[in-house]
Amino acid sequence: MQSHTATLCVCTKGRYVSPMKVNGKPTRTIWLEPDGWSLGIIDQTLLPHRFATARLTSVEDAAHAIASMQVRGAPLIGATAAYGICLALRVDASDAALERAYELLLATRPTAINLKWALDEMLAAVRNRPRGERVGDAYRRAAEICEEDVAINRAIGRHGAKLSVDIAAKKEQGAAVQVLTHCNAGWLATVDFGTALAPIYVARDGGVAVHVWVDETRPRNQGAALTAWELGQHGVAHTVIPDNTGGHLMQHGMVDLVLVGTDRVTANGDVCNKIGTYLKALAAKDNGVPFYVGAPSPSIDFAVSDGPSEIPIEQRGGAEVATMTGRTADGRIETVQLVPDGSQVANYAFDVTPARLVSGLVTEHGIVAPERTALARFRSGIRHQLSGISNRGSRSGDQ
Ligand code: MRU
Repeated sequence: MQSHTATLCVCTKGRYVSPMKVNGKPTRTIWLEPDGWSLGIIDQTLLPHRFATARLTSVEDAAHAIASMQVRGAPLIGATAAYGICLALRVDASDAALERAYELLLATRPTAINLKWALDEMLAAVRNRPRGERVGDAYRRAAEICEEDVAINRAIGRHGAKLSVDIAAKKEQGAAVQVLTHCNAGWLATVDFGTALAPIYVARDGGVAVHVWVDETRPRNQGAALTAWELGQHGVAHTVIPDNTGGHLMQHGMVDLVLVGTDRVTANGDVCNKIGTYLKALAAKDNGVPFYVGAPSPSIDFAVSDGPSEIPIEQRGGAEVATMTGRTADGRIETVQLVPDGSQVANYAFDVTPARLVSGLVTEHGIVAPERTALARFRSGIRHQLSGISNRGSRSGDQ
């Protein structure tokens, strides 16, 4: 029986876990360039075979980075959109320009609610401000949104790590906790730390042996390309598997816990995430495997209830399904066609897991049951906290 060493407990109480690193260098997914106004991003379309950054100098650049998925993942989409507003206001701080930028960025991708959340936060921060103050106010709010994202993910890491600690305590000494994850909900999908992967990093850094089954996540392979890459950068043991393998592993007791991210949680706890998540939840339910969701509060959409009928599901271009990009033996990056000429393809990017299949939502305030009353209580708790913050005069309270 694995003993609860002090390190473990101290770790889940939030001992500092190092920021994510690339080749040993602490790196975030988005940052202000030295010029103090343009943005730097990691171009995630080139990973894992090439680590390259790109510079965003206009709202159009920011919109393109989101739509083309140079940046992706609900929280990072929100952070990029926030800075997109800043880039627009630098050029023209008028109401009309603000409205145009809001609409341009909102139209990039329809499913992740963090996009609208961040744009509404930016609007609230600048719309009643004198035109001459708007650029400064916008950059301040965008920077806050990034710092809040990092703090939220750290807290999700702390609260979620306990799940692995408790499972480890029931396993043979040193036996790894077997976690399955789908898509990429790691630090690459946020400003830093990630949501679903944060509990894995915190548990691992706190001494819990962890092994991650990484769904490749067709058609864009966020698991095989991004999750495997960032787990590797952080030295976390992992195995990439085809998307259809998880059910078999669960049936054979090879998965202790499923941890996934979300693009939108509804008021009654339905969870929208990368296509294929619903199938993993069904297999987890059928095999009694706990299924938890990293759910930062900006990803909770209290304006919708029934996920399957109310959440807009993005459909992307067929080429993402019909072709595959990878590195050739001589190091070239090539795209090849998979399907026969003339075959139809469909590319739904997300699906909805009904609340009844979700064990819990790992939020920055703790684990919340995926059901209406618990979420309503959670919301009032957030509102109370925000009004506490606003009373202390830091920034506008809840809308
Ligand atoms: O299409 P993507 O890569 O943006 O989809 C990302 C996901 O589905 C993530 O799981 C989700 O955004 C949560 S990211 C913390």
